[in-house]
Formats: sequence, C-alpha cells, structure tokens
Amino acid sequence: MTVLVTGATGRHGGTGAYVVRRLREHGIPVRALVRRLDERSERAAALGAELVVGDLADHRSLASAVDGVSSVYFTFPVDAGIVPAAANYAQAVRETGGSPRTVVMSMGPATPTHPSHLGRHQWLSEQVLQWAGLDVTILRMAAMFHEDIPLLWKHSVRTESMIRNCFGENPVSWLNALDAAEFCVAALLRPELFADKAAHYLPGPEVLDFHQITKVFGEVLDRPVGFEPISREAWLAELLDLAASPHAGLLKPDMARHITACGHAVANSLERGNADYSDTGLFRRVTGREPVLVQDFLTSNADLFRPER
Ligand SMILES: NC(=O)c1ccc[n+]([C@@H]2O[C@H](COP(=O)([O-])OP(=O)(O)OC[C@H]3O[C@@H](n4cnc5c(N)ncnc54)[C@H](OP(=O)(O)O)[C@@H]3O)[C@@H](O)[C@H]2O)c1
Repeated sequence: MTVLVTGATGRHGGTGAYVVRRLREHGIPVRALVRRLDERSERAAALGAELVVGDLADHRSLASAVDGVSSVYFTFPVDAGIVPAAANYAQAVRETGGSPRTVVMSMGPATPTHPSHLGRHQWLSEQVLQWAGLDVTILRMAAMFHEDIPLLWKHSVRTESMIRNCFGENPVSWLNALDAAEFCVAALLRPELFADKAAHYLPGPEVLDFHQITKVFGEVLDRPVGFEPISREAWLAELLDLAASPHAGLLKPDMARHITACGHAVANSLERGNADYSDTGLFRRVTGREPVLVQDFLTSNADLFRPER
C-alpha cells in the first residue's frame, strides 16, 4: 500500500521530507515525487523511498508517480502555481484510473474571499481536486509556521533588533511546520479520524501577538527586540525589497504579497476561515505528542538571529 509523497525534498517548512521519514519509520512503502535527483532526493532514497522524477507543473510527468498508489500526501510551496498543480495531479490520477486517498496540506486562508491571492488559489485548488472526483482529506493549518519567523524577520532582528509587520495588535496562532506534518501523518495512517468531513482545521498550540513574540526573542537572545506595527503597504514594500536583496533566502514576492494580506486580515479581523483558534489542544489529542512552542523554536535557532560577525 504505497504512499506517494509530493514535495518530498522539502524547502521552507520541509513537511514532505518529514512525512517521508515518518512513514518509513512506520514501515510504509513510500514513493517520493522529486523534481530532480540531488542530495535532497538522496536523503529520501536512503530512507528506502522509491524516487520518481516529475513536476506538478506538467501532468505528463506525473503518471508514473500516481500509478498504483493507495494514498497521497499533496503539498505545494506557498508560491504561485497551486491551481495548475492540483489540476495536473487530478488529471494524472484520472488518466491512470486509480482512486488514491489524497491528504492535502492546506492553510487557514484557503477561503474563496480571503484577501490573500494564495489563500484563494489554495481554496480553488481544493475545489479542483473535488470537482475531479478525488477522495480528499484537506488539512488547513490555521496558524503561521515558526519557520516563517526567520524567513520574514531574520534580517531585521539581526541588523536592527526590530520586527515590523501589519498584523497590528491582534494575536496570531503559531505552529511548527513539522508538527503540521505530523498531523498529516496521522491523517495518512488513521483515515477514520478524519472521515466525517472533507476539510479539517488545525490551529496552533499557542496564540501570541507580536509584543509577546518580541518578549520571547528578548529572553532567548538576551537583548531587547522591538516591535513596530506598520501599514500593509509599508510592510509589503519592505518585504519586496528584502526578496530582491542578497538576504532574501527563500522569500519570494508571492509570499510577500500573501503574508502582508494575511497580516491585514488579522489586524482588521477579516476573513479567517472556520478554525476554532481556542482549540489549542487538538494537535496533542490527535498525535499524542507535545507540540513545539515558539520559545523552543527560537531557542533552537537563536544563532540565526544573532548579528553576523
Ligand atoms: N508557511 C506557513 O506559515 C504555512 C502555514 C500554514 C500552512 N502552510 C502550508 O504549507 C504548505 C507548504 O509546505 P512546506 O513548507 O512543506 O513546503 P516547502 O518546504 O516549501 O516544500 C515545497 C516542496 O514542493 C516541491 N515543489 C515545488 N514546486 C514543485 C513542482 N512544480 N512540482 C513538484 N514539486 C514541487 C519543492 O521541491 P524543490 O525542492 O524542487 O523546490 C519542495 O519539495 C503550503 O501548502 C501551505 O498551505 C504553510
């Protein structure tokens, strides 16, 4: 009963690479979809995964990936292209005549009316999978990943000890990407827990505003870190400059537009989907594990935020 894992190399949150590892630990046969053979695909192969080279941007490359699998972990980066990716995947499944159960990694902003274009695209991609008649379990992570903190603020914390954004004074739910992935592993291994409806929300285990985030930063780094709420337009301009700079890392313009729209939605209490943000114990109940907290993540990654010598 082979599971196909898309995004198996992982990049930002790295959920696909984690799902490969955990399924192999459970002795499940895994087929890993990779775009190229490199040292990251080799890591999946070393865990015993079968490698298939393919691209979600081209349905012709996906037939051998989907052929004969019983379930699929479907993820795509927070970037443009999710709607054609879903359509190409659905077309490949229909062409090969299979009916794998598809566990979709999704986000809270996946609604038809969200201010984020990527939130709306994510929602539309889920509609495409359902129109195609696929058996889908959609897991909407209703939180920011901890991994977004270095992506968005590593440079400003390092150089100015400052965090600026347009989330305003409202709190945000926080979740570690690997805990999000563990929740998806639970959905792959125990479908019965998720059989009652197509879309499920996972809020993070804690809800913190940016005054609280900078307080944690101060404790971890042993120096004060400030927070300045700025307008959506000002934060977008700052992130687009960062994305075009040598300090961009994995930050892309589409992510900048997405996250500033999310900040605007949070600050103004706009569309936030149907998540119950007060259910901070859901991850524990489903996985039986303790979640990683912001304090843990920043402590483990403190060196990222120290000034470069
Ligand atoms: N960041 C957040 O705050 C947040 C919050 C809630 C939910 N989420 C959800 O998390 C998901 C992203 O997961 P993630 O962080 O694990 O992603 P990630 O680490 O950025 O990994 C993306 C993977 O997709 C692969 N990929 C990219 N384009 C591809 C294509 N055209 N064909 C095949 N593979 C392709 C990448 O391969 P390469 O290595 O070849 O590029 C990589 O392995 C999104 O669906 C988002 O909704 C994120």
